[in-house]
Amino acid sequence: MFDTEGYSDHERVTWLHDAATGLRAVIAVHSSARGPAMGGCRLWCYPDPAAALADALRLSEGMSLKNAMADLPLGGGKAVILGPLPGGAGRAAAFRAFGRAIESMGGRYVTAEDVGVGVADMAEIAVETRHVSGVTAAGGVGGDPSPYTARGVLRGITAAARQALGRSDLDRLRVGVQGVGNVGGALARLLAEQGARLSVADIDPVRQARIADETGADIAGLEEVLTADLDVLAPCALGGAITAPVAATLRARIVAGAANNQLATPEAGEILHRRGVTYVPDYVANAGGIIAVGAEYLGQGSAATVLADVDAIGPRIAALLARSAAEATPPEVIADRMAREIIAAARGA
Ligand code: NAI
Repeated sequence: MFDTEGYSDHERVTWLHDAATGLRAVIAVHSSARGPAMGGCRLWCYPDPAAALADALRLSEGMSLKNAMADLPLGGGKAVILGPLPGGAGRAAAFRAFGRAIESMGGRYVTAEDVGVGVADMAEIAVETRHVSGVTAAGGVGGDPSPYTARGVLRGITAAARQALGRSDLDRLRVGVQGVGNVGGALARLLAEQGARLSVADIDPVRQARIADETGADIAGLEEVLTADLDVLAPCALGGAITAPVAATLRARIVAGAANNQLATPEAGEILHRRGVTYVPDYVANAGGIIAVGAEYLGQGSAATVLADVDAIGPRIAALLARSAAEATPPEVIADRMAREIIAAARGA
């Protein structure tokens, strides 16, 4: 495990197997220095358990950085469930078993939604433990994190368009959205409301057609969307969309989306920077969801303060991009440095 790709200085990694329900999962706690390690639960069909472990390690470290940059009193963790799960009662039972495992961690890890998992699954977990969020929007705070994530990404795109393109609005801005699931679909709707011209691509043809229909978007090919003639590319599917070859050939002036770990390698980010493509660091842009479900879990804030905190992603990104330009350094390098300093300070405290 200690040699696995993605392992850095994780505090605790747990493998779960519940024989009765068939649940197999990994819970990775990267850091609890700033508070309970919070991050979503992903359900995905991995090629093998090693791939699931690598994903959990990478995503949980990303949550530490994300939560630190968003100034939340939370550490970083993430869980992945190795799919597929059965449907109906079998799925509910597996999420109950997952909830019992979280409960056994005594609040060190707090879960919420991620890819492949929804509010109904969180409700099953909540039967077994209180260390879960994204369940209900009590008092208008929390529930499904996706709309908040989409709103924050929109603020990021707006800030980048101002800085990189001198745009004061998004009217007729050409945006390609790769992955139109919970977040990508919501983002597409918000962009359409602002007058953006959309191209969408999703491996799920039904979802793709529905969002295209709702937003007037063109449908692009899965590979084609990455290098299409666009102003903004918004990766909103899984991680690793921006490989070095994609970075070298994409035509968008801005890359800003919701997906975690968009850059397949650090080199991909360097290529974007060298080519003058503005990359909005993923975990800074996509913090809206954790801001909302974090407030739900911690019992802090009102609907208005949560929206204000999500909107603060815009100025945060503007400041980051300005610093990147002033220091001639890729924005993700600066963001990583800042986040690691915040975590190190908490560890030393
Ligand atoms: P989702 O599962 O609702 O949507 C993902 C979509 O991407 C699906 O429609 C799927 O068919 C599509 N997809 C998968 N592979 C693809 C490919 N190669 N090309 C095109 N489409 C593809 O997941 P959700 O919640 O929308 O998350 C999307 C991304 O945003 C993930 O990387 C997630 O980690 C990240 N994220 C989500 C947050 C949330 O609030 N849900 C918060 C922060 C990050």
